[in-house]
Amino acid sequence: MAAVAGADFATLSVRVSTRWINNFASQSVHHQVKLPQLRRAAFRKSFGRGLRMKRILLFAIFSGALLMTTLAPIGATPQPGSTTKKSFGKTPGGQAVDLYVLTNKSGAEASITNYGGAVVSLKVPDRNGKLADVVLGYDTADGYVNDKSYFGALVGRYGNRIAHAQFVLDGKTYTLAKNNGENTLHGGVKGFNKALWTAKILPAKDGQSLELSYLSKDGEEGFPGNLKVSVIYTLTDTNALRIVYSATTDKKTVLNLTSHGYFNLAGQGSGDILGHLLTIQADKFTPVDAALIPTGELRDVAGTPFDFRKPTAIGVRIDQDDEQLKLGGGYDHNYVLRRSAGVGESLAARVVEPGSGRALEVWTTEPGVQFYTGNFLDGKTPGKGGVPYPRRNAFCLETQHYPDSPNQPKFPSVILKPGERHHTITTYKFTTEK
Ligand code: GLA
Repeated sequence: MAAVAGADFATLSVRVSTRWINNFASQSVHHQVKLPQLRRAAFRKSFGRGLRMKRILLFAIFSGALLMTTLAPIGATPQPGSTTKKSFGKTPGGQAVDLYVLTNKSGAEASITNYGGAVVSLKVPDRNGKLADVVLGYDTADGYVNDKSYFGALVGRYGNRIAHAQFVLDGKTYTLAKNNGENTLHGGVKGFNKALWTAKILPAKDGQSLELSYLSKDGEEGFPGNLKVSVIYTLTDTNALRIVYSATTDKKTVLNLTSHGYFNLAGQGSGDILGHLLTIQADKFTPVDAALIPTGELRDVAGTPFDFRKPTAIGVRIDQDDEQLKLGGGYDHNYVLRRSAGVGESLAARVVEPGSGRALEVWTTEPGVQFYTGNFLDGKTPGKGGVPYPRRNAFCLETQHYPDSPNQPKFPSVILKPGERHHTITTYKFTTEK
């Protein structure tokens, strides 16, 4: 029906436009040198049809161009290989918040807001080329202002927990903001996820890039040093989202930056992720206490429900009678990645969603990854398109240093000194399987 109606409409427009052209043409003829009657008739006969066709063609091109220029500012479909910016709302203080839409050459799309640096949507193809948005999030800045789940956000200064909201550096005790019982979670009450970042579209050889910068002032949430942070997101033309983090400080401090994407490879809002097949490149994980603070032990995954060394459905063991799973309400644990220091990015994890065939590989320079199964999601806050996000509707793979490292001398160091540059890379690569 729609096609038939469309065809009728096209015929009608051609008819109307032909008449319009003819009227216009006959008017303009009056201003031309008058030809003898006969010559005009002969001329019309031989060239009339051709001219009419040319006029119709010209008119079609003209109206097409007009239509395109009218639609472009309304933000119809972003063009492949482009980055556009649009309004996303306001902060509680009235500052404008923007949304940047990065579209790669094959049509995959990442939308990123400068509020909290959050990845708002990420549209990647399934095995048949059909795009779906594979991350949880909100439709406007307001959602991110009120968010308590860190959907898609940049997390800092310290990803995950610091016990008792304090640490000691060079004999001095630093007291941090408490926002998770007695502890500091994801940077404190106002972490980087609640900051308005400065955005700049950057040229990129292999895709579309956006740089976000933020100055975290000395003493912010209790952390020492003025910390200059830059995060460069690149959506590559091969469907990877690369995140390059860098930072410098003017006082010795601790730092652990991550990105808190909540993924559902079947599409956001499409149900739980228990059937996704997960592999993690780790032989050990860091068990936690009742407050989800690591005990300091590095425990073998072998013989436990934490063993994801071979592709395993996330849900098959999640409700087993296991002390660690009970403490986390599911998986909410840091894995010790099987990687050698200083070799660039290594594969951390791989996830496949059998229904759509979408696969995600996480590559990183970081020593750990927090595998979290959205155990605290409760479906009460509507997400994008008004869909609820119930418990375990997404998984997170937050590449990072281990939680509570500032208080755990055996964990790799998270100290950043003046004169040094913090530099880490994490890439989320999307492909498909049959
Ligand atoms: C991390 C933590 C979880 C939870 C989420 C945010 O993944 O490990 O315990 O706090 O962030 O809700």
